[in-house]
Amino acid sequence: MDKLIVHGGATLRGSINISGSKNASLPILAASLLTAEPCIIRRVPDVSDTNYMIQILSAMGADVERSSGTVRITCADISDVAPYELVRRMRASICVMGPLLARKGRAVVSLPGGCVIGDRPVDLHLRGLEALGAKVEFEGGNIILTARDGLRGAEIDLCGTHGPTVLGTDNVMMAATLAEGITVIESAAAEPEVIDLADFLNAMGAKITGAGTRRIVIEGVRELRGVEHTVIPDRIEAGTFMAAAALAGDEVKLRRVCREHLKAITAAIEQSGHRVEFNEAGNTCTVFRGETFHGVDLVTAPYPGYPTDMQAQMTALLATTPGISVIKDTIFPQRFMHCAELKRMGADIKIDHGTAVVRGVAQLSAAPVMASDLRASAALVLAALTAKGDTEISRLYHIDRGYEHIDEKLLMLGAEVERVKD
Ligand code: EPU
Repeated sequence: MDKLIVHGGATLRGSINISGSKNASLPILAASLLTAEPCIIRRVPDVSDTNYMIQILSAMGADVERSSGTVRITCADISDVAPYELVRRMRASICVMGPLLARKGRAVVSLPGGCVIGDRPVDLHLRGLEALGAKVEFEGGNIILTARDGLRGAEIDLCGTHGPTVLGTDNVMMAATLAEGITVIESAAAEPEVIDLADFLNAMGAKITGAGTRRIVIEGVRELRGVEHTVIPDRIEAGTFMAAAALAGDEVKLRRVCREHLKAITAAIEQSGHRVEFNEAGNTCTVFRGETFHGVDLVTAPYPGYPTDMQAQMTALLATTPGISVIKDTIFPQRFMHCAELKRMGADIKIDHGTAVVRGVAQLSAAPVMASDLRASAALVLAALTAKGDTEISRLYHIDRGYEHIDEKLLMLGAEVERVKD
């Protein structure tokens, strides 16, 4: 198991490229199950989650070639069973369910287990697929979906107690592309990753309108074809480096970003006292560390609100921002594991009912800390950048799930980090 040692105190300066989006790549890779023709997907980040997805698809019979961010995938002859050994490693593998059911009339996928960021049920995914005519059964830890006579379009409301579901919307949208008739998804997730998937599916020949709004309409087609697609930039990786630049930067430039997708994150960084400038095209941003800082009140919300996937990183920034910040996670109210580790580094944080109250301290100090999930580990790396001393972050595999070459990118910006083997 790798560890990251961060020697705190270096100033970040220079520029890096932001990778393609992990959370857009995963359902898009799964969507290639919908056709027997080859799909070419560019800018797939080389992170362990996309590797798991590729392994799952390969184990199901897909022919996959991958080189420098481009994945060529042909799902000519595939099985309807997603292997438990691979599926259990990544909750997002649930998004093979919709395309598999649509293509094969049957899908066997293991029920995802517990997750450190909170309870993550799949009731909405199943409600949607059932409305399209699938029979849902559970056996031996698996979900078995069958629709021997094909799926039929339906009106489905996907609103849950915590709002819309991103992968649930993806699953139902993918299944509905090959259903007979028209499907309307109400209370759909409007995340940019859902739009990217809809663009991919439409290029394959699907008829989807309304992606990016709360109402998506899908007119079923008989079959889909192979396609070439470039994945959108990773807004959470961009946001993480924006927070790093605000914490420890002088002038940091991030290329290959999308201004439109970063509005809520940009607003939060600016409110805390830093300056963010985009070029005219909106695909490069420069973050300038500010001189006077302010605590921020943040509430996570579905897009276009402030993303839960940037909650931990912003908490790390606010831990050393003078003033009091109040951070509420409405999507995953238990997603505060990073706070216990930040407190070991000297942060002043109190958690109560899905809300963190952060009183900014002047400086954190290094301590051995443990990554508990992907975004929590990113928060620890950020905190370590300005902490006094050398912070050792163990269980680095969490960060490798979703950040492409994070240590190399930090080194390029002048951070002093070392990856070491245990
Ligand atoms: N929910 C239900 N029932 C369901 C599905 C979801 O109640 O059937 C609840 C969840 O428990 C949660 C809320 O609905 O409270 C939203 O969850 P959602 O389904 O949108 O999450 P997801 O689709 O499983 C994706 C991202 C997550 C991100 C969430 C929220 C991918 C691969 N994952 O998960 O990303 O936190 O949306 O934006 O796209 C990450 O990248 O670190 C990550 C965890």
